[in-house]
Amino acid sequence: MTTVRPPITIVEADLERHFDDIVEIYRANDWSHAQDPDRLRTAIECSSYSVVATEGEQAVGFARAMSDGAFAVYIADILVLPLSQRQGIGRRLVRALLDRYPMERFHHQVLVAERGAEGFYRRLGLVPVGSFGLTAFIRTRDQ
Ligand SMILES: CC(C)(COP(=O)(O)OP(=O)(O)OC[C@H]1O[C@@H](n2cnc3c(N)ncnc32)[C@H](O)[C@@H]1OP(=O)(O)O)[C@@H](O)C(=O)NCCC(=O)NCCS
Repeated sequence: MTTVRPPITIVEADLERHFDDIVEIYRANDWSHAQDPDRLRTAIECSSYSVVATEGEQAVGFARAMSDGAFAVYIADILVLPLSQRQGIGRRLVRALLDRYPMERFHHQVLVAERGAEGFYRRLGLVPVGSFGLTAFIRTRDQ
């Protein structure tokens, strides 16, 4: 007997409904944010816009963005449960964020690709800053 899986839906994150699943998505991807859920909740509450990909009642993907509401947006933390990766969910999460911050208005759009994720962003049509003769600088403890 084959099991019919519910369709994937992208909706704005609702911490009352989705927070436990979101922590699990970070944990399943070995991201340290999951070790400090209170701090993660603060990060999401203070983000400008957060979305989840839901399959039935369960959130299986998450992404968030921070914006000044006028020119600039920083896209952060795009994650999909390992068992749900490579099914087009990451692409839909990024699309939902980009739709919220259209290029005509938000012409400064930035994200930092984790190691191994560059190919994903290239597939989505994003371009490394070096292609424009620009240099991005970062200050981080992970060097
Ligand atoms: C990166 C991540 C969000 C991609 O999500 P996903 O749902 O697996 O991606 P999609 O299925 O939507 O892939 C979209 C396209 O990118 C490609 N792609 C996905 N991950 C890729 C990767 N790591 N390298 C190269 N290409 C990749 C897919 O093959 C697909 O290509 P297609 O257009 O030819 O079909 C997911 O792998 C993930 O959660 N990784 C761990 C957390 C992480 O590193 N996040 C990135 C933070 S910067």
